[in-house]
Amino acid sequence: MNVKTIVVFCLFISFLFSCKSEEHTVEIPQIIPVPNEVTINDGYFVLDNSVGIFYDDTFKISGDFLKNFIQEGSDIKLDDTDDIQFILDQTIENTEGYKLEIQPYKITIRAKTDRGAFYAVQTLRQLLPPEFEDNRLSKKKVSIQCMTITDAPQFNYRGMHLDVGRHLFSVDFIKKYIDALAMLKMNTFHWHLTEDQGWRIEIKKYPKLQEVAAYRNETLIGHYSDQPHQFDGKRYGGFYTQNEIKDVVAYAQSRHVTVIPEIELPGHAQAAISAYPNLGCTGEQVDVVTKWGVFEHIYCSKDETFDFLEDVLDEVIELFPSEYIHIGGDEAPETKWKTCKQCQNRIETEGLKDEHELQNYFITRIEKYLNTKGKQIIGWDEILEGGLAPNATVMSWRGTEGAVEAAKQKHNVVMTPTSHCYFDYYQSTNSDEPTAIGGYLPLEKVYRFNPIPSELNEEEAKYILGAQGNIWTEYMPTEDQVEYMAFPRILAMSEVVWSKNENKDYSDFTKRVEHFNKRLDVLDVNYANHLYEISGELISEDHKTEYELTTTLDDKTIRFTLDSSQPNLESQICTQPIPVENSKTIKAAVFDTEKQLGSIFTETINYHKAVGKTVTINKEPSPVYSGSGAQGLINGISGSDTRYGDKEWLGFWGEDLEITIDLGEETEINSIETRFYNGTGQWIYAPKLVEFGFSSHGIDSKVEIQNSEETIVDIIIKADVNTRNIYLRFHNYGIIPDGKQGAGQKAWTFIDEIIIN
Ligand code: ACM
Ligand code: ZN
Repeated sequence: MNVKTIVVFCLFISFLFSCKSEEHTVEIPQIIPVPNEVTINDGYFVLDNSVGIFYDDTFKISGDFLKNFIQEGSDIKLDDTDDIQFILDQTIENTEGYKLEIQPYKITIRAKTDRGAFYAVQTLRQLLPPEFEDNRLSKKKVSIQCMTITDAPQFNYRGMHLDVGRHLFSVDFIKKYIDALAMLKMNTFHWHLTEDQGWRIEIKKYPKLQEVAAYRNETLIGHYSDQPHQFDGKRYGGFYTQNEIKDVVAYAQSRHVTVIPEIELPGHAQAAISAYPNLGCTGEQVDVVTKWGVFEHIYCSKDETFDFLEDVLDEVIELFPSEYIHIGGDEAPETKWKTCKQCQNRIETEGLKDEHELQNYFITRIEKYLNTKGKQIIGWDEILEGGLAPNATVMSWRGTEGAVEAAKQKHNVVMTPTSHCYFDYYQSTNSDEPTAIGGYLPLEKVYRFNPIPSELNEEEAKYILGAQGNIWTEYMPTEDQVEYMAFPRILAMSEVVWSKNENKDYSDFTKRVEHFNKRLDVLDVNYANHLYEISGELISEDHKTEYELTTTLDDKTIRFTLDSSQPNLESQICTQPIPVENSKTIKAAVFDTEKQLGSIFTETINYHKAVGKTVTINKEPSPVYSGSGAQGLINGISGSDTRYGDKEWLGFWGEDLEITIDLGEETEINSIETRFYNGTGQWIYAPKLVEFGFSSHGIDSKVEIQNSEETIVDIIIKADVNTRNIYLRFHNYGIIPDGKQGAGQKAWTFIDEIIIN
């Protein structure tokens, strides 16, 4: 919110307390995503049966939406006078921008397009009581505070993705999801329709896609890393008919949401290959996959496969008016291509260097075909390997490096890095969270995402079209679970892509989320609520160590204990950081005046010999997994056992590390303990070799680490030395072997506390 708005808000707040009347309950507008400029004015618009609404065909979608929303959500009936008026205004710069003016007897919506007006309507919707959402408002009169809102998005691409391959969701649910996008002023639904575990779009020319590829025999139970793998024995599947798809696309159009279909190639294609084995390199009969991961049966590069894909895409194009078709491109192991006569023949006849260039050939050939049909392609960032197809847009997911490379090559980019956009990651460190794929992506981290990578200059930054939250559904078998993972992170993402940076304020946002949750209640959305949780931070300064507890909402109270008992309404209120002079366990929770609101927070501080001392690392952690920095390695707090993205873990991609700890003076050392995260499903591997030393960079001890299925690999070295410095070298695992997820890629190393005793 700009300065002018803040001043006006202050005036408004005093007005609120001085003259709140029974009839007019006023509230500061709590809109998500936060608009660019809001000016509160005196007075109210009274919405009742005397009001009319007027719009012509230019504003058909937005006008119809508002009229229906009011009439279906309440007992108010509107006539066709122009108390609520839509005006075409060419002076509004952004095609999706709008100006909404609420005056005592008039509401005016100005926009250059129906799309812009639609977003004005979504703002107005959030100014009306939540009961409108579900026809629960039996009132015939509602007052709306007078104000003027001028608004426009920061990014043109504002999206959410949904994987229906791993689990399938009803058409009604897809529409509900699209409704949520529209309410949050998002304009793109990326529909991930084909996978190894199921083909979900009816293709009339290939009936076996429906009969065979759409069904798997059973599904993995529990997490992929639970060994041995167990299966439920139940056939699972289904697909969307072309009529259903047309229905969804039309529904999305009536909410100004573009649906981008994804047809994965050349990888994630085992379901299709199970239906038509000739599409693969070996011709062997394979099954639709029943567990999660990356699989080696990918499309062969022979002409027959391209004929199939072109036929499929012909039908897809007919169904989806979107400019873009997403062609996947990610996670395609080249193992089968390496031993396939036809693929090797293709490499030779096309003068290609290797299988990477064959991947480029594959994508470019499909791109050319789609370009002749007037379509553009989007692909995951692997399409950069072996050269980028000429007009492709890159969806950067493995970090931001792909985005930087593509933008520098003057290609458009959509940002979806795992670190900030993968809503299949855990959103809380609570141990009772439903099973998720891994990682840790709390609401605040999504909120603080800046889609423009810092490496880009202003000119290059123009290639960043926007960003998108991804919902991969391996661990989301139900619609409720999808909602739980999507909400509230989708609210944060809407603000990332719509709102101006200078208007973003996390504390203010969380208050708006608390308010917005009432609307989600009426809409029957199963959102996660972690607003009442606590985060803690150890602060070491001037030889003094303290532990600070914070929570998001500042009108709530934190109470804590130090004797391991559960905090309650009688426990001490936390008003300042807790002094730490020895190891201790802090338990805390958030309370209002009557009850505990969130879950219990527990932190164990291990006050070992390096806490508060100095540590250096020869490499910077990845910017997206930089946690609380190197100092976090000796802050007395270990990272979560299940959430490698929490602020205690530091992530490095494919690098060897050298770490030095300076204890400030010669100190007796009896043991050194280090921990590594080992999440092979997420390309994270403990190092193969760890070396330790105490004298100037000499190595006194080595530990080789065997492959392990444990999530945490703990190394303890016994010592008996007096030393000021401790050196550690961690050798990165190297390239991920065949048969594992991420095969052929560099492994990540994740490290947390180094405990010196
Ligand atoms: C992806 O997450 N494989 C794009
Ligand atoms: Zn082949």
